Amino acid sequence: MTNEDGAREITTKQVALGVTGGIAAYKAVEVLRELQKAGCRVRVCMTARACEFIRPLTFRAISGDHVVTDDYAPENPDPIAHITFSQSADLLVVAPATANVIAKFANGIADDFLTSTYLASTAPVIIAPAMNTTMWQHPATVRNLERLRADGVRIIEPEAGIMACGTTGPGRLADPQLIVHAALELLEQHGSNPLNDLAGERILITAGATREEIDPVRFLSNRSSGRMGFAIAEQAAARGAEVTIVAGVTSASIPAGARLLRATTAEEMRASVMRELRGATVFIGTAAVADYRPVNRAAEKIKKRDEQFTLTLEPTPDILAEVARTRHEGLLVIGFAAETTDVVQHAREKLERKNLDAVIANDLTADGAGFDVETNVITIIRRGDATPLALPLMSKLKAASRILDEITALRAKRFPSVTSEISRPA
Ligand code: PMT
Repeated sequence: MTNEDGAREITTKQVALGVTGGIAAYKAVEVLRELQKAGCRVRVCMTARACEFIRPLTFRAISGDHVVTDDYAPENPDPIAHITFSQSADLLVVAPATANVIAKFANGIADDFLTSTYLASTAPVIIAPAMNTTMWQHPATVRNLERLRADGVRIIEPEAGIMACGTTGPGRLADPQLIVHAALELLEQHGSNPLNDLAGERILITAGATREEIDPVRFLSNRSSGRMGFAIAEQAAARGAEVTIVAGVTSASIPAGARLLRATTAEEMRASVMRELRGATVFIGTAAVADYRPVNRAAEKIKKRDEQFTLTLEPTPDILAEVARTRHEGLLVIGFAAETTDVVQHAREKLERKNLDAVIANDLTADGAGFDVETNVITIIRRGDATPLALPLMSKLKAASRILDEITALRAKRFPSVTSEISRPA
């Protein structure tokens, strides 16, 4: 089912909201309200420490439901609440998630209501960590988060900024709107994609920035975080595709469900892509590949001098153009274009010059678009289609979903005979 914007509508709306003990606990109220506004029924549970930051009564008043804080409390209307609670939820959202609850989830410890709910639930899980920067960066937390990612938990990374404790750095709870966006998207994926509409597709995606060394300590690179490519990978895997990512340097969370190969330079990325390409049915180039590299990499660190210094550069291989040039029957080739002026025109030129099926233009001048942010403003330009599809600001996950919708449409239009082969079970 779709709405007037062409996006899929959500039909599944039972959300369990877990609140843990951090200063950001009060922001869970906004998460609750926004989920309700989107039509979700939200039931709240709180850890004992969360109740020291905000009273359960606040959540009870807004949710209209009993707030569970303790499985064994006599006032709890349900004798096996964590089972009932977890099994009636279509999604578990934990915001804020402390280092402590992350560690417990990662290790299967179930010593209170929320952690028992986590273990007893088969619903998808989103956690939005919030904590002091040192705790966020501690190897134990990093390790626990990696484990949760591998378990399929979606992590909405904290923002950087001034913390309640006076320090500055990453650790502040992500914007509640972003948490709600992600929650609705996950509900949408799990609620309205029973079709597995990308089953049989083998999607090869480049993501992140390449890095071209100047000397042992310096390099040329860019600000790509990998978020856009990883969002496409995550969504495609959730829709049944087999996904391989060739990633350069990235700072975003690695998505669950995809195979990840690493490459540092444009040349390494090219080699990896060309090796993987044979089995692919779709290629999507989201990576920000360096266009130039130094002709010579200095073996020793280049010494600082007081006169001007000239670095001679040469073009790197154009991976996207080579993929399109050597494409096999049935391969769809999708490029990205990061532009600051005449966005659609420049993107269309790339589509023609590189012989692509579609190009996704990012307007880098638009607020919330482009590099190293959770959102994007994209225009989808399809070969032979005079009218580009300009989309408003949306999360990269949502943008990914729209791009994949276009790919399914392109598949049916460009290679109808291949469609039946692709969707035939192996
Ligand atoms: O990673 P994020 O922080 O989420 O940011 C996402 C993004 C802005 C990097 C992404 O959405 C994006 O626009 N990627 C392409 C950026 C870019 O380098 O654009 P371009 O116009 O220079 O390249 C056009 C296309 O050719 C791209 O698909 C690129 O992957 C590809 N290319 C470019 C040069 C090269 N040597 N080889 C290539 O394959």
